[in-house]
Amino acid sequence: MAPNSPFNRAERPFKEMISAVRITTRVAEIGAEITRDFEGQGDDLVLLAVLKGSVIFLSDLCRQVKLPTSLDFIGIASYGDETASSGVVKITQDLTKPIEGKHVIIVEDIIDTGLTATYLMANLRTRNPASLKLCSLLHKPSRTVKEVTIDYLGFEIPNKFVVGYGLDIAQQWRNLSFIGYIEDE
Ligand code: IMP
Ligand code: MG
Repeated sequence: MAPNSPFNRAERPFKEMISAVRITTRVAEIGAEITRDFEGQGDDLVLLAVLKGSVIFLSDLCRQVKLPTSLDFIGIASYGDETASSGVVKITQDLTKPIEGKHVIIVEDIIDTGLTATYLMANLRTRNPASLKLCSLLHKPSRTVKEVTIDYLGFEIPNKFVVGYGLDIAQQWRNLSFIGYIEDE
């Protein structure tokens, strides 16, 4: 069992890559950075989470942004298989409000190949936001297919399949409080 972890099922123990404490510290730093960058923008800041992997990150991050902020969600499905992104993305649930004239920060769980984020940025740009930034908790630089600028990044990680803090394997393990990986993968 990973140290300091309040939850880790015995039949599938994960090695701890990033502890809950390190996540909390980093999320607070990113929130402070966003607060500094968007101070004085009125109530036009939108934190836009990509379902479902980003919701836990979003819920912690938004409470560290000390500005008037609205939240919205976009659901996407990749046409690729579970662990490989094809870059062809279908919107399964669209935003609830237009983002025209708003300062939008996309909140992602992980940038792996970069294909999903590239598609999403291009799609959202056509809706004429005042600005569009990308925030991701994790980035696997060794997997890059499409370079994408990550304006706010939590952690760079090695090429391992990770779970927890929102990230899943087959919809499971999102509720781990730390980022873990399977050692033999
Ligand atoms: P990309 O299009 O290759 O950048 O992939 C992005 C999506 O693939 C992420 O938003 C995740 O949903 C999924 N993904 C990529 N790597 C991992 C991982 O290590 N664990 C869980 N999901 C992952
Ligand atoms: Mg995702």
